[in-house]
Amino acid sequence: MLQRLIYLDNAATTFPKPASVLNRMVEIYLQMGVSPGRGSYDMAVEAEEMVTNTRQKLAHFFGAPDPDRVIFTNNATDALNLLLQGMLKPGDHVVSTRLEHNSVLRPLNHLHMKGIIEYDLVPFDANGFVDPCDILRSIRTNTKLVIMCHASNVLGTIQPVQEVGRLCSERGVPLFIDAAQTAGLIPINMKSWFLAGVAFTGHKSMLGPTGIGGLILNQEVEIEPTHFGGTGVDSKSLVHTPSFPHRLEAGTLNLLGIIGISESLAFLLHEGIEAIHRREMDLLHRLHDGFSHFKTINIYGPKNLSDHVGLITVNVEGMSPEDVGSILDADFGIAVREGLHCAPLVHESLGTSPKGGVRFSLGPFTTEEDIDATLAAMATIARTKDCC
Ligand SMILES: Cc1ncc(COP(=O)(O)O)c(C=O)c1O
Repeated sequence: MLQRLIYLDNAATTFPKPASVLNRMVEIYLQMGVSPGRGSYDMAVEAEEMVTNTRQKLAHFFGAPDPDRVIFTNNATDALNLLLQGMLKPGDHVVSTRLEHNSVLRPLNHLHMKGIIEYDLVPFDANGFVDPCDILRSIRTNTKLVIMCHASNVLGTIQPVQEVGRLCSERGVPLFIDAAQTAGLIPINMKSWFLAGVAFTGHKSMLGPTGIGGLILNQEVEIEPTHFGGTGVDSKSLVHTPSFPHRLEAGTLNLLGIIGISESLAFLLHEGIEAIHRREMDLLHRLHDGFSHFKTINIYGPKNLSDHVGLITVNVEGMSPEDVGSILDADFGIAVREGLHCAPLVHESLGTSPKGGVRFSLGPFTTEEDIDATLAAMATIARTKDCC
């Protein structure tokens, strides 16, 4: 009999997805899988209503002021590229952090290499948190925006974005967050947190399919389109539609993904994201406590997991992360993510570059048995090292 996979790579993408999401995607796509907003026949109108309705639900979910400023993208990376390339102009300066994923670092570096912008990356402390005062100190007169992750995808630490939002708003500098690791797990409120925008992805804790994400902006944000094409609006004009949301969307929307995210929102609201987070954290504590009993396992990040999402990164002394990952997979049927996690500067700061670490990330369907089996597997691996 095939061994069941223990899937602990939910920070990459959650698996499995709720059955209700997958069933609804098939059901609704069968009923009206046409191009939304492009025709006057009933089905096209219905599909467009589905899209508008999902924008409204997302605006409500993220405490955003205007559903028309919910822009659908392919994923968080796409949303972050749209944001940075659409907003930044020659001579602008950006403040970000060393905790960022390459989906922020690479667009910033690209714009820098082209001579368009300058940027500063503030460090994080020994526990994996950025100090809001460091962000404030890095702001210059030409700082156009601050962009930072809401939670680190290596350390799991939830960053003090509310405090940063308040400080930035006092300085008149917009704060944008990369909520790839928190959307669907930690409540976010753009209005009360003074956020200018949120980039999210649909396939992680939002529990939707791959290929859908979004950029949600407040009304003050001025941004140029980076893609041009059909919007279904004012087709005689050769100028791309200037009004939101079409301003930042071009081409046929991912209706199947939008149906998925709409249904996954219903799932999250029904289960309660605080309850999902609490459950994941109970399991993470169990894993963390178990790991801390091994002399040869080095855990990165804080001992206190109070501001944390359900992931943890470790190394086994004397072993490469790649070897640990391979043994977990081949001998125990446990899927984890080893390496740099697309966040090279985090590992550089931790001193774990270039090999990185082994990340265990939990999801809503992770069980206590999964954790215990993982601890038993890691005990076998670490013990081999303990006695060598
Ligand atoms: C913090 C963070 N930002 C951005 C991304 C990119 O997300 P996506 O691959 O869905 O664009 C990830 C994915 O791992 C992430 O962890």
